[in-house]
Amino acid sequence: MTTDAEIQSALPALGSGSVAVITGGASGIGLAAARRLAAMGLKIVLADIGGARLDEASRAVATIAGGSAVLAVATDVSKADDVDRLAEKSFDAFGGVSLLMNNAGVGSNPGKPWENRDGWKRLLDINFWGVVHGVEAFVPRMLAAGKPGLIVNTGSKQGITTPPGNLAYNVSKSGVKSFTEGLAHALRNEPGANIAAHLLIPGFTFTGLTEGATEKPAGAWTGEQVIDFMLASLVRGDFYILCPDNEATRPMDEKRMAWAIGDIIDNRPALSRWHPDHKDAFAAFMES
Ligand SMILES: NC(=O)c1ccc[n+]([C@@H]2O[C@H](COP(=O)([O-])OP(=O)(O)OC[C@H]3O[C@@H](n4cnc5c(N)ncnc54)[C@H](O)[C@@H]3O)[C@@H](O)[C@H]2O)c1
Repeated sequence: MTTDAEIQSALPALGSGSVAVITGGASGIGLAAARRLAAMGLKIVLADIGGARLDEASRAVATIAGGSAVLAVATDVSKADDVDRLAEKSFDAFGGVSLLMNNAGVGSNPGKPWENRDGWKRLLDINFWGVVHGVEAFVPRMLAAGKPGLIVNTGSKQGITTPPGNLAYNVSKSGVKSFTEGLAHALRNEPGANIAAHLLIPGFTFTGLTEGATEKPAGAWTGEQVIDFMLASLVRGDFYILCPDNEATRPMDEKRMAWAIGDIIDNRPALSRWHPDHKDAFAAFMES
């Protein structure tokens, strides 16, 4: 495990006393980040839909960071005004923000491509537009502060290999991937900017999103493992923070991604991995 000292000497944005804003911070990966960063001495802004879970998370993080170092802000990331207000409150309370994790997300499946437009819009409003709202609200303020900063947007392997199952989720996470790639490029080319953007790509992680499970499935990582991996990746300067889990190794992920892009290069049908005519070739490719 990368030590706090190694992380903090490599990344000034994560120095003790710095401020982290985490959307979806009341549960799962976001809450694991809040606890870990609080233990490193950062001040934490927890943003999540309001209610008992946010209050409880805020109390839990306060036991680590101290009450005055935690601010909980009820925020619906799908609403630009809410996220603007979150930025205003964060800067008012702590005078600056050096890490923004646009992490809030939902996994409910609105259905087929031709069904339930409202459900599709709602999912995209949270998973995709929530990230854009975060960037719009925080980046101009972070740029004006002129300090080192980090933005970590949570994507998914489902936004890269786009497996059948929840198409709206895949679309939202493909959008987060493209948006974050472009954001990294734009920030790299912004005169005087010292802010880097990264794409967090968790594997199978046991959180509130893990449907139906009451205890951690053997194949899943914990949120804490994802955050350890994220911090080590940030120290290395990785843009793509591609987490393995207890089932999918990095070589397996590399092959799955190579096969997905190979559909275009080799002129196979879309999602050929799940097409009866190509299933055996995919299995052989994975074995090779
Ligand atoms: N768990 C996994 O296996 C996995 C894998 C890949 C990616 N992800 C992504 O990781 C991120 C975190 O999810 P998690 O697994 O920790 O799940 P989680 O359900 O434990 O946490 C997600 C949090 O987002 C909050 N949220 C939902 N809608 C919101 C809104 N409109 N405004 C503000 N907050 C909102 C929820 O209340 C919840 O606290 C999500 O973006 C998810 O898509 C998860």
